[in-house]
Amino acid sequence: MVALDNGFATALQQAQAQISDQLTLRLAGDDPLHQAMRYAVGGGKMLRGFLVLESARLHDVPQHAALDAALAIECLHAYSLVHDDLPCMDDDDLRRGQPTLHRKWDEAMAVLAGDSLQTLAFELLAVPELGPNALALIRALAQSAGKDGMVSGQMLDIAAETAETPLSLDQITQLQARKTGCLIEWSATAGAVLAGADISPLRQYATALGLAFQIADDILDIEGDAEKVGKAVRKDAEAGKATFVSLLGLEPAKQRARDLVEEACAALAPYGADGETLKLAARFVIARDS
Ligand code: IPE
Ligand code: IPE
Ligand code: MG
Ligand code: MG
Ligand code: MG
Repeated sequence: MVALDNGFATALQQAQAQISDQLTLRLAGDDPLHQAMRYAVGGGKMLRGFLVLESARLHDVPQHAALDAALAIECLHAYSLVHDDLPCMDDDDLRRGQPTLHRKWDEAMAVLAGDSLQTLAFELLAVPELGPNALALIRALAQSAGKDGMVSGQMLDIAAETAETPLSLDQITQLQARKTGCLIEWSATAGAVLAGADISPLRQYATALGLAFQIADDILDIEGDAEKVGKAVRKDAEAGKATFVSLLGLEPAKQRARDLVEEACAALAPYGADGETLKLAARFVIARDS
């Protein structure tokens, strides 16, 4: 992780440790499916889980409820990556510095581990401890992940590889908002949803953050070091993938990401000084090297 001299790295590491420990407990089991699921959830930055915990803190949501929601989104996200890496999708061999799940096991196991991580995400949320707004949060996750959310973004992304005309800026923005933005939005608004509070400031924050995050991912694909990034780089251009960078060029894409981070930070104004950690998270998103 890139060193950020502001305490954010420590806060993220604490969240990572907490989330990882719990996931190991919840996924205990010696059979290959449990092993593969543990493998899939390990080693990520856990930014989405962190956003859940932080938005929950801002809204005084009990810690155990926040943690369940953080585990849920990390399971859902891990499933999306396992399937994203499959030969029929991006066909990648490396993820988080390790062989992709279908390389370590096989394609059938990758499909199945992904499937069961997705269902586990909903199981983790469907508990009385999450309180009266759990149903709203569960519905929002289904919408963020499914046919009008992440999965639809993945579908547009794959279709764009073979499209006859390159996507417009608007189309790429739509695609990225679905592919990456929806799960980030769910994470950053989870605390407000659980508290039954107004989600609009966090939603505004997340819309800008999600886009900045995906631009950073696209830039890492061009400028990143595979060893640090932990996944293959220079694949997007090879695949003819439409990205902000392919459309705008590298420097304007970086500027766009910086502007989006400022937008994200401005949206946190209603939280005053309490929003500081989320501002640091936004700056981390474009400064990261993995
Ligand atoms: C990678 O997400 C996939 C995208 C949505 C761009 P992350 O960069 O958050 O991946 P991990 O979880 O830290 O490995
Ligand atoms: C994948 O986007 C996003 C999801 C899994 C929803 P990418 O294909 O760009 O992610 P990486 O670069 O493989 O992590
Ligand atoms: Mg992909
Ligand atoms: Mg990929
Ligand atoms: Mg990528």
